[in-house]
Amino acid sequence: MDNETRPVPVRGLEGVIAGETRVSYVDGINGKLYYAGYDIDEMAEQITYEECVYLLWNDRLPTAKEREAFRQQLIPEMTLPAPLVQWFKRVPPEVHPMVMLRSAVSDLALYDPETEDNSIEANRRKAIRLVARVPAIIGGFYRIHNGKELVPPDTTKGIAFNFLRMFLGRDPDEYEAKAMELIFILHADHEFNASTFAARVTASTLADIYAAVTAAIGALKGPLHGGANQRVMEMLIGIGSPEDADDYIDGLLDKGHRIMGFGHREYKVEDPRAKHLRGYAGRLCSIERGCPYYEISKRIEEKVIKAKGIYPNVDFYSATVQHSIGIPVEYYTTVFAASRIAGWTAHIMEQHADNRLMRPRSLFAGQFPRKFVPIEERG
Ligand code: COA
Repeated sequence: MDNETRPVPVRGLEGVIAGETRVSYVDGINGKLYYAGYDIDEMAEQITYEECVYLLWNDRLPTAKEREAFRQQLIPEMTLPAPLVQWFKRVPPEVHPMVMLRSAVSDLALYDPETEDNSIEANRRKAIRLVARVPAIIGGFYRIHNGKELVPPDTTKGIAFNFLRMFLGRDPDEYEAKAMELIFILHADHEFNASTFAARVTASTLADIYAAVTAAIGALKGPLHGGANQRVMEMLIGIGSPEDADDYIDGLLDKGHRIMGFGHREYKVEDPRAKHLRGYAGRLCSIERGCPYYEISKRIEEKVIKAKGIYPNVDFYSATVQHSIGIPVEYYTTVFAASRIAGWTAHIMEQHADNRLMRPRSLFAGQFPRKFVPIEERG
């Protein structure tokens, strides 16, 4: 193939429209995110996470009665299968919680008699179990690993509240509960991001929903995707005080390093989710006297916008919010997963409902054809 006829691969699939979805839409030019057509900016602080999941799965907002019935279906499923709780005890202590979560979700398939059933009805039942169990796994694992008792869910509350209850071992106060609800809503979906695309590719082989979610969790872990929130907090801790922020960032930029929590493939302006989290980070840090992380974040933000013209993404302020609620840093990405399970399951069900195997081409960059040489003749 000469250079003129040689196709040009799209690196990182940038700008490629890889399929249709009704679940969400990112308008990166105007900094807008829509869940099933509704502007997240308008909705985020007014809906519950359950309402949000219902919207992503049904393409419409629930009535108050439907939302309550849905919540009542979800919360009892936060109780974990006993063998999984036993398995927590065998996980080596040094394992990253995202590695544990990926294995635990894969393990859920072992105890679900409907694993192999890809019908719409069975997928919906399994999606309910996944949305309830992923946060419960994170909370349960944390408690077992720290020698603490498991805490059952409160059936009068929602998923985000119960996640904190089952993680911290106490009921969150009103502000903590609201902040976690907001984190869950804002991370719930983001069209064809890397982990969702991984889930859809896996689902397109007609593999089961657990296989697709396991693939998604694997993709979310990386620092260029969901793993960025942990790296943000590590950076904030490394900086330590607002006065040191400028020099620290200069040092990273001089070495050509990326600033975690900044930049986005699609958003050319501010990520609309960052604004809501910035507000909560500020309020939570002022409640927790002596917390320097909001001020440090503000200094970094000013500096990076000026130096690179890039803006904070969802992971930047989510780090400070999670810190203020008392989530240990290595668990931050699992919180992202606990929320994004809503979008992953919506996309997997959408893929199964109108499937075509995803199988793109690659451009062979090696030498060919080459003459085969039997092993005895190779020098
Ligand atoms: N810090 C410093 N520079 C950054 C940057 C960051 N966080 N993100 C992008 N850039 C710069 C790149 O160096 C590049 O500059 P150049 O053209 O001078 O070489 C330019 O912006 C474009 O970057 P590119 O790598 O092409 O963008 P992308 O679309 O592939 O990257 C991300 C998107 C998210 C991977 C990238 O912004 C990033 O690595 N961010 C940090 C990790 C993060 O927060 N991830 C969570 C995303 S929600």
